[in-house]
Amino acid sequence: MKITVITSSPHRKGTSALLADELIRGAQEAGHDVFRFDAGFEQVKPCLGCDRCGAGTAKCVQEDSMEKLNPHLLESDLVVFATPLYYYGISAQLKLVIDRFYANNSRLMGSGKKAVLLATCADGTDESMKDIVAHYRTIVRYLKWEDAGVITATGCGAREDIEKSDFPAQAYNMGRAL
Ligand SMILES: Cc1cc2nc3c(=O)[nH]c(=O)nc-3n(C[C@H](O)[C@H](O)[C@H](O)COP(=O)(O)O)c2cc1C
Repeated sequence: MKITVITSSPHRKGTSALLADELIRGAQEAGHDVFRFDAGFEQVKPCLGCDRCGAGTAKCVQEDSMEKLNPHLLESDLVVFATPLYYYGISAQLKLVIDRFYANNSRLMGSGKKAVLLATCADGTDESMKDIVAHYRTIVRYLKWEDAGVITATGCGAREDIEKSDFPAQAYNMGRAL
């Protein structure tokens, strides 16, 4: 299976990066082909809403790192979204990427892809992750993709917190089982 992992934290060695690393390790051990796109270290401009792309009929007018991501995104069977919780939602870095899906909307929608959400946050309650999970599920439903799993790593405000937790093992096992 071809997998695209989109990370979106500005911390290369942060909590959500660790979940992505572990899922990738498991997925590669299981023989999957993984492409990783670290949105926090790429140049992704906001969607202009100009509609020149016709939501999938013409190329986006902007030239940036999305040109690197798009071929992998379109080919992938599974897309992993890794994000820290920022004000109860996805990071701005991830939102920029998802908004730019618009230029390929008609090709992405109904493409039979699966999706995974890996989210980390400082708060210790599942309640804090309620809206990010709902947002993810709504996007997956809209694109007519299939939800292949969610890991919400609560109580993980820093690397040392998540390293002590069971969440990296969950991500590894998820990757192995994909
Ligand atoms: C701008 C910003 C907003 C945040 N908002 C929340 C939040 O709403 N709830 C929460 O529990 N933690 C929040 N956090 C904490 C991060 O989600 C947490 O530290 C996470 O582990 C960071 O992930 P990273 O190491 O992958 O960057 C926020 C952090 C930042 C910098």
